[in-house]
Amino acid sequence: MEVVILSGNKAIAALAAGAVEALLRRKPAAVLGLATGSSPLPVYDELALRHERAGLDFSRVAAFTLDEYVGLPHGHPESYREVIKREFTERVNIDPANVHCPDGAAADVPDACRAFEDAMRAAGGVDLQLLGVGTDGHIGFNEPGSSLASRTRIKTLIEQTRRDNARFFGSLSKVPHHVVTQGLGTILAARHVILIATGAQKATAVRDLVEGPLAAICPASVLQLHPHATVLVDEAAASSLRLADYYRHSYENKPSWQEL
Ligand code: GLP
Repeated sequence: MEVVILSGNKAIAALAAGAVEALLRRKPAAVLGLATGSSPLPVYDELALRHERAGLDFSRVAAFTLDEYVGLPHGHPESYREVIKREFTERVNIDPANVHCPDGAAADVPDACRAFEDAMRAAGGVDLQLLGVGTDGHIGFNEPGSSLASRTRIKTLIEQTRRDNARFFGSLSKVPHHVVTQGLGTILAARHVILIATGAQKATAVRDLVEGPLAAICPASVLQLHPHATVLVDEAAASSLRLADYYRHSYENKPSWQEL
C-alpha cells in the first residue's frame, strides 16, 4: 500500500486524475470504477477540465459505480446513478450505455446484483477503482462486519452512515436503510485502487485501514491485501498515522520512473 500525504484537494485531484489520464493513454478502452461521496469530486472536476481543455478521451471507456440506495426510484436526484451522471459522466464523453450501476430499484435486487457482476466480468474487470472511505471505515457501502470476500449484494446501513449522508437528503428520515454495494471481494479484484480521504473526521478510519489489523470491523483494511492500493490523504486525514514520516520520506524519494 502506498500512502501519499498531500497539501489538499487540489494536489490530490491532480495526482488521481494524472493516474486516470496515464491509464487512458495506455489503454483507451479502460474500465473505471467510480465512487460517489464528496471525496472524489475534485478528481471528477479535474478530469472534466482535462477533457474540455486537452481532449482527454473517454469515448471507449466503460465505468462501474460502487453502490446504490435500495428503494429510491430511477431518476431520484440522490440516487447514485443520478449523482455520478451529474458529477462526472455527463461532463465527459463516456457513452451512457457504458456506465453500469448496481440497480437498487430492481424488482429482483439479488438478480440485479448478479447481472452487475456479470457485466463487470464481461468488460474485463476494473482497471482503476476510485474510492472514498466512510467515517466507520466502510468502502462502497460495505459496513463493518462485511465479509472480506463479499460480492455485490444488499446491505443494511449503520445509523452513523445514515446520519453522515442525511445532509444530501435534507432529513435523516429520508435516508434509505438498505443499499446495494460492490462487495469487498469485488473491489479487491480491481487492478489498481486509489482511495481518497480528506479532513480530520477521516483520521481514525485512515489510521485503522492503513495501520490497524486486517479486520471486518474496518472494512477498508481489506486493501492491505491488495497488490496495488494507493491512499491519497491530506494532512488532517493523515494526522493519526504512526508512520506518517516514513510515508512522506518514501514519496519524496520515489524513483521518477515509478507511477502511482
Ligand atoms: C458514502 C458512499 C461511499 C463514500 C462515503 C464517504 O457512504 N457510499 O462510497 O466513500 O460515503 O463519503 P464522503 O467522501 O462524502 O466522505
